[in-house]
Amino acid sequence: MRKLIATGAFLLPLLAAPAAIAPALAEGGHGPALLPAKFSFEGPFGTYDRAAAQRGFQIYKDVCAACHSMSLLSYRNLMDLGLSEAAVKGIAADVTVQDVNDKGEQIERPGKPSDHFRKPFPNEAAAAAANGGAAPPDLSLIVKARPDGARYVFSLLQGYVEFDKLSDQEKAAFGLAKDYKLEDGKHFNKYFHPGEQGYKIGMAPPLADGAVTYIDGTKNDLPTMARDVVTFLAWAAEPKMEDRKRTGVRVILFMLIFAGLMYAVKRKVWADAH
Ligand code: HEC
Repeated sequence: MRKLIATGAFLLPLLAAPAAIAPALAEGGHGPALLPAKFSFEGPFGTYDRAAAQRGFQIYKDVCAACHSMSLLSYRNLMDLGLSEAAVKGIAADVTVQDVNDKGEQIERPGKPSDHFRKPFPNEAAAAAANGGAAPPDLSLIVKARPDGARYVFSLLQGYVEFDKLSDQEKAAFGLAKDYKLEDGKHFNKYFHPGEQGYKIGMAPPLADGAVTYIDGTKNDLPTMARDVVTFLAWAAEPKMEDRKRTGVRVILFMLIFAGLMYAVKRKVWADAH
């Protein structure tokens, strides 16, 4: 029993320091290290900063949605972020969706809260054709689909460099090949596929200082916008994370109390035998 309690005590510090367990992407000299950032949703008690996530949705809606789908989300899911039913109805109604009526005819109608987020392109081929050959990926799970995803997307959005302005020295520091060329329609990003012929992304810088004016008046510089949209994308990728953490904490608490109780019982039962 003492062993069990010792195990419980051993688990506690693990709970407090999960950040140290997260993988560091840029180790081994493979491209620049990601920007250091702490997010509200990290750690065993982390939660999504609702205000940031709502602002992040505004950025997705006003900027990213022109190219990126988020097909796993429905408008009504936004109520989890604290938006009212009326606000969600309004957001959905602003979107025109394709549907089929009772007679089997193609129609367009205003969106409803139960509709999935509208896709900007009918299919992947069309998306690629409109974007110089590189289709913008669906963003529903992007934060889970990349190593250290939140920090990666946060860095990527701020990782654009004007290639023409790089000195030969800087180019060498990136490890670029002698015959490196940035083709038309490609942009140089410090965090995208590093390598001799790497760093080429088919997405123009989507955000810059002041790109979106926030409804709530928050300062709209690039780092704030990047953090907000990442908070929204992290929530989208794992909307039940908070429940999961809460359950985990309860289970550990229960086990600690139960272990204590069992120890007390053991002492009582064996008291006369000693
Ligand atoms: C004008 C179209 C366009 C807009 C607007 C846009 N993107 Fe992209 N995005 C792309 C394209 C195209 C790619 C694929 C690039 C490639 O594979 O070279 C991409 C790729 C990405 C990726 C994946 C990178 C990877 O590791 O594969 C992320 C993340 C991303 N975009 C986030 C965003 C966010 C967040 C916004 C809004 C702030 C946004 N994008 C706005 C076109 C766009």
